Order: sequence, then structure tokens, then C-alpha cells
Amino acid sequence: IETIGVLTSGGDAPGMNAAIRAVVRTALHYGMKVKGIMRGYSGLLDEEFIDMNARSVADIINRGGTILYTARCMEMVTEEGQRQAAEICKKHGIDGVVVIGGDGSFKGAGKLSKLGINTIGVPGTIDLDIACTEYTIGFDTAVNTAIDAIDKVRDTSTSHERCSIIEVMGRHAGYIALWSGIATGSDAILIPEHYDGNEQEIVNHIIASRKRGKKHFIIINAEGIGHSSSMAKRIEAATGIETRATILGYMQRGGSPSCKDRFYASIMGSKAVDLLAEGKSNRLVAYRNGEFCDFDIEEALRMKKDIPAYQLELSAKLTR
Ligand code: F6P
Repeated sequence: IETIGVLTSGGDAPGMNAAIRAVVRTALHYGMKVKGIMRGYSGLLDEEFIDMNARSVADIINRGGTILYTARCMEMVTEEGQRQAAEICKKHGIDGVVVIGGDGSFKGAGKLSKLGINTIGVPGTIDLDIACTEYTIGFDTAVNTAIDAIDKVRDTSTSHERCSIIEVMGRHAGYIALWSGIATGSDAILIPEHYDGNEQEIVNHIIASRKRGKKHFIIINAEGIGHSSSMAKRIEAATGIETRATILGYMQRGGSPSCKDRFYASIMGSKAVDLLAEGKSNRLVAYRNGEFCDFDIEEALRMKKDIPAYQLELSAKLTR
């Protein structure tokens, strides 16, 4: 492999820059040339490339977002788009690509690999919703941002003796909700994988706790359940306690990455290039059982993930 490309795709996540930096510097270590592909697969199809050297990735490890920009590209879902992407890589002498993103991005990477471009995926998403790995770049920073925000909302909830419903991101997955809910000692944690819609149970808990003198209530609601504002209205009507909804939104996606996100992203980015240097393709870098490893992309995409049973039990024991 002489020249590799690197792109970020899907939602941005803190730590992506650390991964890009590790890809570039590891590739240079192997004597490879590196092209930064702008705006994910959209930039690949538009041939938006930049030559990268060690200096291109200086001063970025501490920055959130992605210096390569990112996009969700519908064209890459089509066979025509995939064929074109592979041809463009060949035309520019790119024989390996590191794709930093989520499941959707890895589908494209798998297709590129079948079309003769060596591709390696690196899991970058705040949602932690990639089945083969227990760590994804950005999750640690996102949950830390969420707990800071929840702690702040709690101050106001306590002062006003209110109930707060705080909605956190995660798309269809409840990891951010579960971790931030447990880490802030919340009263209820609602996650799409397991929420049965039983609002009455929450209402009963609030009424009983208020009778015992509890001043404030924090309910963490995952984006996958959503409708926090209408939920707040119903809970206020049923309990008689002022209830407000706060949707944390994109603040969870930005910001300077935590140490863990910088360090793990560095390892994963570097490992992706090690794999390319070994002549591997169609692999996804992962972290499992305390070790960094890699999986076949199709195998990884077929894997299913659920919240670990013990964490769910813990959530039940420590909340209502
Ligand atoms: O995948 C990260 C994420 O922030 C999800 O939690 C959320 O559902 C989605 O991206 C929002 O995507 P967009 O950037 O298109 O608004």
C-alpha cells in the first residue's frame, strides 16, 4: 500500500481528530502517503482530497468535531455510488481507506473493499451502538458532557422543587441515557430497548417520594423514546408537581475530547493503518474484553447488541 485515504462519516464525535492524527502519523511512519478525504463519502464522490503530512494534524488532538468535516451520503448507499467511489480511489492512486464513523459508514466501507479498495473501519459515534465493540470514539466525552449538564439542571430542579425530564441523545440506543442516568443518581432512566411505556409507575414513584419529603426528581429520557415535552405535561398533570423538559441535543456531540477518547481513538486510528500495512481489508477495529481487536465488517454488521443485563438490573436497583 502506497497511498491511503482517511475520511470521517456520519455524526461527528469528540476524538475523531485524535483518530485522524493517529492515522496520518502512523501511515507516515510506514512511508505511506495520506490523502484526507473531505466531507465523508460525499467528498470522495466529489473528489475533494487534501494531501496530509505530520503538520496537517498538529494541534488537533484536543479539538472536538472533525477537521475533515463529515456528512451522511445517500449516494454511497447505491451500487452506482459505490462503483464510482472505488473508481475515483483508483484514479487518485488511493489503495487503502480508513473510514471513521458508524454502522452506515461501514456498509459503504464493506462495499468499497469488495470493489478492490482495502478498507478498514474505526468506530466513531457518541451513541455506542456498534455491536462488535464495547467502546466507540466520542461516547466517553458525550456522557461526561451529559452528566455535567444534568448536574446543573438538578440544581434548579432542587431550588424550585420541580421534576425535570432530561432528554439525551443516542438515536435508537439507550447507552448515553443509562450511563448518564446512573452516574447522576437519577430517579428514572427510560431507554428505548426496554421502556414499556408505563408512565403511571413513574408518577406513583414521584407521588410516594414527595410524601416522604423528596424535593426534586430527575428523569433521564433517551432520544429513542423522545416526546419529553408532552411527557412533562402529562407527569405534571398527574402529580401536581411542576415538571420541565430539557433536551440536551448537540451539545453532547461537541467539545474537547476526554483523555479516554483521545487515547483510545489514537490506538484505534493507528491500528487501522497497521491492518492496512499488513495487507488486510474489510476489517473493523474494535475494543472487546479489555483488548483492541478487529472483525470482518459484514460479520460485525450482523452482530446484535443489547444493554448488558447487569447494567439494566443496576438501573432498576438504584432508581425507582
Ligand atoms: O449518531 C449520533 C447522533 O447524535 C444521534 O445520537 C442522533 O440521533 C443523530 O446523531 C442526530 O443526527 P443529525 O446530525 O443528522 O441531526
